[in-house]
Amino acid sequence: MTAGPGSKRILDLCCGTGDLTRQLVKGGGELFSLDFSFNMLKKGVAKGWLSGENVSADAGKLPFKGESFDYLTIAFGIRNIPDVDVFLGESLRVLKPGGKLLILELTRPDNGFVRFFYNLYLTKILPFIGGILSGKREAYGYLAGSISTFLDRDTLIERIKLAGFKSVDYKKKTFGVATIYICGK
Ligand SMILES: C[S@@+](CC[C@H](N)C(=O)[O-])C[C@H]1O[C@@H](n2cnc3c(N)ncnc32)[C@H](O)[C@@H]1O
Repeated sequence: MTAGPGSKRILDLCCGTGDLTRQLVKGGGELFSLDFSFNMLKKGVAKGWLSGENVSADAGKLPFKGESFDYLTIAFGIRNIPDVDVFLGESLRVLKPGGKLLILELTRPDNGFVRFFYNLYLTKILPFIGGILSGKREAYGYLAGSISTFLDRDTLIERIKLAGFKSVDYKKKTFGVATIYICGK
């Protein structure tokens, strides 16, 4: 990891054990990872995936001073945060002017045909197979529920703008099953 003068400061939020963080490391910069689960951080360190500075804290109350980071990333985490507006406000606060918040999140496909099969997979097939393999069928039920109840793409974009971000672009992935939002301060 490069952390020389002028290197970018990056904070990966809701990092879990570091699936995304370990990819970010390859791009260089000074990397921070945050998750409120100390156990997740511990596992990530043990795997060698969290090699920067690790912080156990709530993404809705970031323990950093204002304008500290060039980039914030959050993959498959925003859906679990109870108050999205508070989270967006905190993200804006710790970003430097011109900085970017990158959100990767599961979304509902726009196409009705794709959405039908996706819902079938999510609510029936995945809990059935996942339940047999892991013994935790309810975890897959939670996944389906949290995708169907979380803000849809347009509403989330609206809230990002309302929070004060100057720009929001997005890229749909795999028929809209996931979306990347690029939010500029
Ligand atoms: C589905 S995992 C995603 C992990 C990782 N970003 C990835 O892509 O594999 C979601 C993570 O968010 C964390 N999390 C959920 N709510 C949080 C919050 N309010 N503050 C900090 N971490 C949170 C959980 O502990 C969990 O590790």
